[in-house]
Amino acid sequence: MTKAPSNGTDTTGDERRSTSHDPSTAGIENRIETEGDPGSGGDLEYEVVTTPVLVVGAGAAGARVAIELAESGVDPLVIGKRDHGDAHTTWAAGGVNAALGSLDPEDDWTIHAADTFTEGHHLNDPDAVELTTREMPDRIRELEAWGMPFDRTADGDVNQRYFGAQSYRRTCFVGDRTGEAMLETLIERAQALDIPYRENVMITRLLSDGERVDGAVGFDMETGEGLLFRTNHVVIAAGGFSALYHRHSSRDDENNGDGQALALEAGARLMDLEFVQFHPTGMVGDRYGEEWDGRLVTEAVRGEGGRLYNAAGERFMERYSPDQMELDARDVVARAIAREVREGRGTEDGGVSLDISHRDDQYVRDRLPSMVERFESLGVDITAEPMVVGPTAHYTMGGVDIDFRTGETGVEGLYAVGETVAGVHGANRLGGNSLAETVAIGKLVGDHVATVLTDTDEDPAVTDGQRALAEREFEALRDLAASDGTVTPTELLEDLGDLLWDHAGILRDDAGLREGLAKLDILRERTADLRVEGDRTSKSFEYAVDLSASLTVAEAMLRAARERTESRGAHYRTDYPETADDWRVNLVLTAELAGLSFGRRGVGDPSPAVRAALEADHQLDYHHLE
Ligand code: FUM
Repeated sequence: MTKAPSNGTDTTGDERRSTSHDPSTAGIENRIETEGDPGSGGDLEYEVVTTPVLVVGAGAAGARVAIELAESGVDPLVIGKRDHGDAHTTWAAGGVNAALGSLDPEDDWTIHAADTFTEGHHLNDPDAVELTTREMPDRIRELEAWGMPFDRTADGDVNQRYFGAQSYRRTCFVGDRTGEAMLETLIERAQALDIPYRENVMITRLLSDGERVDGAVGFDMETGEGLLFRTNHVVIAAGGFSALYHRHSSRDDENNGDGQALALEAGARLMDLEFVQFHPTGMVGDRYGEEWDGRLVTEAVRGEGGRLYNAAGERFMERYSPDQMELDARDVVARAIAREVREGRGTEDGGVSLDISHRDDQYVRDRLPSMVERFESLGVDITAEPMVVGPTAHYTMGGVDIDFRTGETGVEGLYAVGETVAGVHGANRLGGNSLAETVAIGKLVGDHVATVLTDTDEDPAVTDGQRALAEREFEALRDLAASDGTVTPTELLEDLGDLLWDHAGILRDDAGLREGLAKLDILRERTADLRVEGDRTSKSFEYAVDLSASLTVAEAMLRAARERTESRGAHYRTDYPETADDWRVNLVLTAELAGLSFGRRGVGDPSPAVRAALEADHQLDYHHLE
């Protein structure tokens, strides 16, 4: 992606507007064309950008959609909240799944699909799973052709490693910096295609009447200036919401639910929000310091043979999962660790030990260079001593409900992709399948959007109604920036993180979830006393904007978790510990005038080929790793 000029390459011109706006009347007639000071919270000033397709989010999913569009002759505009090339994908570590069979020729896409359904406890969307697993070998070959520097086997094939709950070595990797390498590759490709990219932009609202989206409103985070994007096609690729939790593996200021909140408010459905994945191995302990709390220790450590021990030196996974051991599903390993700690067998820091020191030093350095380097910087040599780890919120399986063949959300002109959506992973995700989804489904969505574009989408006009909606939003943002109460957005977001960790964590029950919802009401009340410290370019303002989306998604998630009275995958209810057949349904929610409304939708069945693979019951026997 190439940097777009500040007005985008497809703007209808440098339309700058300043408004002195009477909220009691529709804004357009009150608009006065004078320059304001966008950073001061004073008069409204905004820029209008038109584009045939707006891609909101610049990680792997957004980039792959944009590449497909560009290759189909469409010139999309990609926007991201951070600097060019900087997105959460860079933190994806251990690998990306594709049934290449480089080392295990028995593997094929149907077994990859079967593993995905098994891990997802059969709540996955069959289309989503099959499209992802079938597409992935081609997507890896494509990334390879675009220059992604995959690790190689002795024969020169793309190398593959073990990852949790997978029947074969299927996870392709670039050391333990696979996401970074993938994003670099996609960006180079996007740049070669001259795809315009606009950095440091935050979208705060979609222009929608509930049936159709025809634009988006936001602001430039560097100047504070308002932005009105006029387009008939918006693709949201803005990540998940695991960073809402106190301990999480995500970048702090991303994955806070803004994509889901934008879509819900625009009239789209959300689905399966109760399924939040806790990765078993986040960094834990004073030795590493607060800034590292919850940061990911990649599953590749266990995939390369890492072993978990409790404080008594027991390899406790022998008790929980004697066959799959440390490479059982993430929910199983995370709950096992949490139980060891809860029952007093954890380390002083409240974690367990993860040890790979039995492997050859050079092997560890070659396969896990980022882990070695990171721990070295903290005074720990992982080739010789263990790491201390514990569960951390890592990924959200729930999100926007889409048709996976098209990315359509049910609201005309609005599409979604990547961690923003629900469906591929069901109740729990296989490690290595998130990067897979980004490129497999991203390509399909880009392809579909390209086919539905018409000439009139190339240069859509801006109507008075759209301006009025946008101006109302700019006013709301201006008022938000001027908030001068006593409680900062940071304090509220931290309290929200604690609330979710305490009430919607690895183990949930009705009483805890109800209490969480009551505390959420109090948090909402406190937003009336918000204090934003700084102008519209400040972090404080960014967090204030985040807050509203975060509260919306947190409420939806807590309510969904209450609603699902069973345990399945990552959703474990201590008051309903069994999986119930009649709960093999997706929980779909919409925003109605009266509040959030839930419906249940039955899940389709996999195709005969995948059913055969499920019946064959392939499974990794961990012990042949040792
Ligand atoms: O542990 C990891 O490297 C994470 C990978 C994933 O979540 O897919």
